[in-house]
Amino acid sequence: MDIKEKIEALRAELHRHNYNYYVLNAPEISDKEFDDKMRGLQELEQAHPEYADDNSPTMRVGSDINKNFKQVAHQYPMLSLGNTYSEGEVSDWYERVSKALDEEFEVCCEMKFDGTSISLTYEKGKLVRAVTRGDGEKGDDVTDNVKTIRSIPLVLHGDGYPASFEIRGEILMPWVVFEELNQEREANEEPLFANPRNAASGTLKLQNSSIVASRKLDAYLYYLLGDELPHDGHYENLREAAKWGFKVSDITRKHKTLDEIFAFISYWDNARKNLPVATDGIVLKVNSLRQQRELGFTAKSPRWAIAYKFQAEQALTRLNKVSYQVGRTGAITPVANLDPVQLSGTVVRRASLHNADIIEALDLHIGDMVYVEKGGEIIPKITGVDKEARSFMPGEKVRFIATCPECGSRLVRYEGEAAYYCPNDTACPPQIKGRIEHFISRRAMNIDGLGPETVDMFYQQGLVRDVADLYVLTAKQIRTLDRMGEKSAENIVASIGRSKEVPYERVIFALGIRFVGETVAKKLARAFDSVDELRRADHDTLVGVDEIGEKIAQSILAYFANEGNNELVRKLEAVGLQFRRAEEDLTGRTDKLAGQTIVISGVFNKYSRDDYKTMIEKNGGRNAASISGNTTFVLAGENMGPAKLEKARKMGIRIVNEDEFLQLLS
Ligand code: IVH
Repeated sequence: MDIKEKIEALRAELHRHNYNYYVLNAPEISDKEFDDKMRGLQELEQAHPEYADDNSPTMRVGSDINKNFKQVAHQYPMLSLGNTYSEGEVSDWYERVSKALDEEFEVCCEMKFDGTSISLTYEKGKLVRAVTRGDGEKGDDVTDNVKTIRSIPLVLHGDGYPASFEIRGEILMPWVVFEELNQEREANEEPLFANPRNAASGTLKLQNSSIVASRKLDAYLYYLLGDELPHDGHYENLREAAKWGFKVSDITRKHKTLDEIFAFISYWDNARKNLPVATDGIVLKVNSLRQQRELGFTAKSPRWAIAYKFQAEQALTRLNKVSYQVGRTGAITPVANLDPVQLSGTVVRRASLHNADIIEALDLHIGDMVYVEKGGEIIPKITGVDKEARSFMPGEKVRFIATCPECGSRLVRYEGEAAYYCPNDTACPPQIKGRIEHFISRRAMNIDGLGPETVDMFYQQGLVRDVADLYVLTAKQIRTLDRMGEKSAENIVASIGRSKEVPYERVIFALGIRFVGETVAKKLARAFDSVDELRRADHDTLVGVDEIGEKIAQSILAYFANEGNNELVRKLEAVGLQFRRAEEDLTGRTDKLAGQTIVISGVFNKYSRDDYKTMIEKNGGRNAASISGNTTFVLAGENMGPAKLEKARKMGIRIVNEDEFLQLLS
């Protein structure tokens, strides 16, 4: 076998394993074997760029090149479906269809998946384009991002597919992935996604497809378009599509009578709660394509299909009290305490009230009967008040507290933010305990064996007042306090000791500086060799770092302006935490770009934007976000923004391309 054949055989094999794993849920080889084969293919492809292929399984890992999406016109407009909410409306539709066709017809009943719709174009069995719905006429070309979704075939199976066709479906974030992502975002103090739909569409629009790849999206396909589809039946065509490698829901059924349709709806209204992805209704489609053509479209939607939307699960219950929680950053979260009520299989006692503005908008009073909904969100929320039930003797109006429920400090509200904060970060107990819990968490210092109860006990006993105190704890103290076994106490001490090896970037994250999540911490660690450098950085230097905006810069400056924080960092340095980049990262440094300020713009071929940033920094240069009088030169890739180009030209700033830049460093 020559190299080319070898590469092709490996690609075919990996496509097959991918399909077995992500579509059929029936892997034939272990994850490790799969990874080994993938690595083998990557190596071969790197060594033989002449055999590159845009649809190789290696393309699924994504790239970190930033791009603005190209707008593409849809060949067939992407219409929406008419919505119905009652059996009556469904029978009206059925009667209309029946009258218009005046012959027998079958209805294909399907799940309505609650994600973001996508149109995929295949030519000669290969995925050539993936476009979002956009305004229905044109959408964003998100092909690179879609290629990272493992259940979408890049190359089709068999040979029965039309030479050219379009297939539409829904991109979804499975519940488990959504919950994991939100937990991670909460830990990083990033805004949470309200539901898997927003998470899926937000992810699909990310500029960096390697992050998309890490988010584990899934896709179900439900609509084929093209001139040469194999059958007249929509259902039959979907079954063929499944054979070509697409993930097609097997919940789909053909029914003839209204009774059968209603039975399908009522069964799935309940059974859908066990599905791995969010659904919000049932779609009914006249099965025959000939009959579909006969029925045609209105301006907005097909006459041959309709959506039946499930009722958002809602419960009515009494509001007894509003309590307030203080987070580790001092943010105050109002929580509704309710009469226990059954909702989507769980008993709800508490619901989120988000912030003061939402409380005000609801005009909440204690004792009100309130509507609670889950509708996709993890934490139930109050969506309304039954004001009629309040008609006589309303309870007290809910007014957001003015002082911290834990330490009594007067609350503050920062400009542009919805939340109130307790500013007493040095002495407010939940803030102190919250910071310790964050510090020891798995993604930060990864200290095992200490839970919130133990932290609370240490705090109560005055043993731990800040995270530096952890490093002087003895096994004996832990044992007597927590009444735990000798071995467990020793394990905790050992785990605390091991945390001294945790790398610099995670130590920065562990400090719990507001808005400095994992990603930002990595960027900071890359831009500043040590915490001392970070401490000395001024505003302009900070905002010059990739992805560090005004808000983060202000927060870092405020953190180091606080003497208590500097004292803590000094104590942690003294016990031996990693507060500088490891030696191996620092090697390969030069001062070839010393004193130079370089702006990066456009899309690059040889290395990623982040790689170029690292190169600039490693060679003593500074990377800045925008062109100014200080700019030494612009490192320009393809499609450099016209405004930037114009500005650079006007200011007489040198434009250096990728090759010239690499030459400069070599
Ligand atoms: S068929 C011309 N089938 O619902 C109609 N749509 O409001 C083509 N959706 O934009 C759509 N599950 O994003 C169809 N089984 C299903 C669906 C489905 C979810 C979404 C889709 C569409 C919206 C219509």
